[in-house]
Amino acid sequence: MSLVRKFSVAACVAASMMVFSASDSFAKTFKVAIGDAAGGTQWELGTKFAEEMTTRTGGKHKVKLFPNGQLGSEQDTVNEAALGTLDFSILAINNVTPFSPSVGVFTLPYVIQSLDEAVLLTQGEVGQELVQNTIRDAGVRIIGWAYSGFRVLTNSKKPIKTVADLKGVTVRVPKNEIMLDTYKSWGINATPMAWSETFTALQQKVVDGQDNPYITVHAMKFNEVQKYITNIRYLFSIEPLIVSESIFQDLSDDEKKAVLAAGKAATDHSEKFLREQETAIKKDLISKGMEIVDPANDEKEFIDLATSAVWPKFYDSIGGKDKLDHVLKILGR
Ligand code: MLT
Repeated sequence: MSLVRKFSVAACVAASMMVFSASDSFAKTFKVAIGDAAGGTQWELGTKFAEEMTTRTGGKHKVKLFPNGQLGSEQDTVNEAALGTLDFSILAINNVTPFSPSVGVFTLPYVIQSLDEAVLLTQGEVGQELVQNTIRDAGVRIIGWAYSGFRVLTNSKKPIKTVADLKGVTVRVPKNEIMLDTYKSWGINATPMAWSETFTALQQKVVDGQDNPYITVHAMKFNEVQKYITNIRYLFSIEPLIVSESIFQDLSDDEKKAVLAAGKAATDHSEKFLREQETAIKKDLISKGMEIVDPANDEKEFIDLATSAVWPKFYDSIGGKDKLDHVLKILGR
């Protein structure tokens, strides 16, 4: 490498790292709660965020990840972060909705229909508005997004292809009204349960099934306690990285910039990870004995029942029907 090139590479690296002055906060090891086991999209987002934070603060601040719900259930971590007793958390968007209802627009069934749509919404004007709403409502700031794919339905009893097949199957869902009502529209009362309790409940057959993306099913080793997968596509799983707003506001301007830039780099990494890994992970689940079926008739019955019963019920909580119409317009529908 020529001297000139060496100099310009070094200058670029230096420019990308913030210079931290005496007025910055003391060196810290930030804690990041992670609901899932290591190996899933939450873990990937957190690992990249940790690396970027170390680089961007010139090694001053470190980030330690706590997977497997070690720091509490996903919903509990929102409370902890709001109180400033936890720094960061990575969790499914449906577990943020109870604290900031307008985020529910991302949980309404069949709104987001692909990874491209998830990226467009989260990283555009809609995402920005939801970031502000979440600071206002829940005292936490979304600084990154993991993209995990569609939440497929798994169960230990039988292949489920139709709404009628759901009868007699007990399904765990997060404590989220939109998801509970979606299953209600399909004729069953799902069981609301914290994520941290789900594996044991499936293992002990307290419930027969649950829904989560392939990557999460794999990371959580649900293949050990579940046999069948139905490729429903009612919910594209988006998993934000949140920071306690009070902790964020205590940072210097340069540190805030480092946190936001690290969050963006981790988001880009998460998108790439899903694109590259999902197919291989699906194959691995099959090789481990899981059976995958598609819903009958292109999922039409599931779609019609859920959209007609659930969307109108939540217009108010997401900020009005106009909000959903606006999102659908951005998506070209
Ligand atoms: C849930 O089902 O509660 C969450 O989607 C789990 C997760 O964060 O992966």
